[in-house]
This record gives sequence, structure tokens and C-alpha cells, in this order.
Amino acid sequence: MTTLSIIKADTGGFVGHSSVHPDMLAAASEALREAIGDGLLIDGHASSCGDDISLIMTHEHGPDAEPVHSFAWHLFGQTTTIAKRLGLYGAGQDLLSDAFSGNLRGMGPGYAELEFTERPSEPVICFLADKTEPGAWNLPLYKMFADPFNTAGLVIDSKMHAGFSFEVYDLYEEKRIVFDAPAQLYDLLMYIGAPARYVVHSVHSKTLGEQAAATSTQRLSLIAGKYVGKDDPVMIVRAQSGLPAVGEVLEPFAFPYSVAGCMRGSHHAPIMPVSIAQAHPARFDGPPRIVALGFQIKDGKLVGPRDLFDDPSFDRARAQANEMMDYLRRHGPFEPHRLALEDLEYTTMRQLEERLADRWEAMAPVAVRQ
Ligand code: 13P
Ligand code: 13P
Ligand code: MG
Ligand code: MG
Ligand code: MG
Ligand code: MG
Repeated sequence: MTTLSIIKADTGGFVGHSSVHPDMLAAASEALREAIGDGLLIDGHASSCGDDISLIMTHEHGPDAEPVHSFAWHLFGQTTTIAKRLGLYGAGQDLLSDAFSGNLRGMGPGYAELEFTERPSEPVICFLADKTEPGAWNLPLYKMFADPFNTAGLVIDSKMHAGFSFEVYDLYEEKRIVFDAPAQLYDLLMYIGAPARYVVHSVHSKTLGEQAAATSTQRLSLIAGKYVGKDDPVMIVRAQSGLPAVGEVLEPFAFPYSVAGCMRGSHHAPIMPVSIAQAHPARFDGPPRIVALGFQIKDGKLVGPRDLFDDPSFDRARAQANEMMDYLRRHGPFEPHRLALEDLEYTTMRQLEERLADRWEAMAPVAVRQ
């Protein structure tokens, strides 16, 4: 069995929250090369979206493996040291714990991991996002694996016709449920249509009995108890041969749907599919970006990446995202650009309530008419 792990963290932004400094990425690539040499990893590729570094790694240790998580943790320690030396913004931002113990759960870095027996040809797509939260994967996963208007294979491929199951986490109460698609589509949508709380964690093929997708489902602010930046999630999707074709996996991103994140993690904004060269959110710390790195996995080796959104057929999505950004920005501090009060990552409301407590005057209650 091969495990594909993406482990990611923001360990400092260059400049502000817009990008990763090349020295940090070089250090990550060098550490991956050493880990391959030491036999810990089969292969590895360091990449980034915005100010988050992603380590894309193949190995045989399975998900949640101590040696792999520990390696990533210490690597992020090294990139933090570089960030501090260069005075980069928010050095070590996503490292919430002082010491590593066992695995990365609850420690700040995000991770998506998927273990599988390699098929004769194994195309996978690694999605990396910045300036948004893990629920941002709900809509595209629904489209890829449950919407025949997106994925033709659901109707015309006999290996897909039985559908897929969606594992959904409740991030507030730490519980999980599995929904069967298409039989329980409407139940599924009731939950995942609320992506701040309910997040698709994995998707499985009913016919193949194989896991097809894995997402990072941490919620940093719930772990830290305060705003420490958005999670900036990652996702792995396997493609072809009874799973959605590469083009069916990418198709949802032709629509720049609205996500929570952007400036101060507190605004709705469109998600913009971009090439690696354009994955540096600057305008209003946005619009939120997503990149798609395609690999063929052969004997555990990562053949790639192909920069899949480096394609003019996503130009319209990018143009539409810019139009939507103009439209939303003109709302300034008003909803629905700004998030609802309970979802704001930054707020002055508690101080205001204290300071203005005695200026609010009670009004006579409205009489209820019988
Ligand atoms: P090919 O016939 O080129 O292999 O394409 C099959 C497919 O997956 C198209 O989506
Ligand atoms: P990051 O989570 O990408 O660091 O973003 C933080 C932020 O507040 C951007 O405005
Ligand atoms: Mg940051
Ligand atoms: Mg980020
Ligand atoms: Mg972040
Ligand atoms: Mg072909």
C-alpha cells in the first residue's frame, strides 16, 4: 500500500500573508530530498499556495504516522527559523504547540492523507488553497462525486453509476456520519451546505470500495480558541478508471463559488483557480486562491507535477472571480461581504458591548396582540 500525504502550514508570509519566501521553499525541498535519501519517504515535492507551504509526500507508513508527521513538524520548525531571520510576517503562525507528540492532530498544521493500492495508472490531483477554510471543498466534492451535470461518468460509466459515499465531520461537536449518494443526497446537502461547521472528510467509491478523496478538516480557530489565520485547506482526489476523469475533477472550479476567508478570514469572496505562478493573493488578501497539481504515481514515485489550472479554459472563471470581487468589495463592512457576527474571525463586538452597555436604552416591549 502507498500513502499520499499532504501536510501544510503557514510558517511566515512574504510579504504580509501573500506568499512563501523562496528560501523557505528551498529548505523544504532540501529536507524532502534528505528524507527520501534516508528511506523515510518514497518521494516528495514541496509547493505552496499563498503563504502556506505544502509537503506532498509518498511513503509506506500509512496515515497519521508518527515518523512522517514528526518529519513535517520539524521541517516547519526550520522554515519558521528562516522566517524569523528574514522578519517575515507571522513566523510560525500555524505551529500552535511547543512540542511534538505522536501526530499533528490539534497542533496547527493541516493534513490530508490517502492510503491505496496503486492501480496500473494512478492519476491524482493535489489541491492547495489559501485564504479559506476546509468547508471550501464541500461544493466541488459534491459536484465531482454526486452531480451528473458536472460528472458525466455518474450516468454513463458502469463503475460509477452506483455512486459514492461521503464521510462528513461536524467540527463543532467532533462527530462524523456517512451519507450515501445518490440515495441520501438531500440529507447530505442539508449539512454540507453549511461549510463553516460540516465538512466532507473523505469520499469512497461504492463499486470499487476505494477511497477517492481526502481533505484536511482541521479548524485552526477551534483548536487555538482565537483567530490564528484561516486553515487554508488541502485535498487529494484520485481520478479515472471508475473515478471521475481529471476533467470532471477540475470542472467544478470553472465556477468561482463563494467561500469564507479573504481579508482577516472574515469575508465572503470568490475562489479563484490559478496557476502556481499566480497563487499569491494580494487584493484585499484575496481573492482566495486554489491550485491543482496533477501527478501520475508510479511505484510510489510522484511523476509531475502538472500545473492544471495553468489553462486558458479557466480564464473565464478568473475573470468572473474578479467581477464578483468588485461587486462584493463595494459592500465594504456590510454583509454578505463581511461574515455574519458569529463567524467573524476578528471582532470588536465584545469590547463595544462592554463600553456601550449603559448607552443602550431598554424599550417598552411590544404588546402581543391576542
Ligand atoms: P481516453 O479515451 O483519451 O483515454 O479518455 C477517456 C476519458 O477518461 C475521458 O474523460
Ligand atoms: P492566512 O491564514 O493565510 O495567514 O491569512 C490570514 C489573514 O488574516 C489574511 O488577511
Ligand atoms: Mg499567514
Ligand atoms: Mg495562508
Ligand atoms: Mg492560514
Ligand atoms: Mg487518451
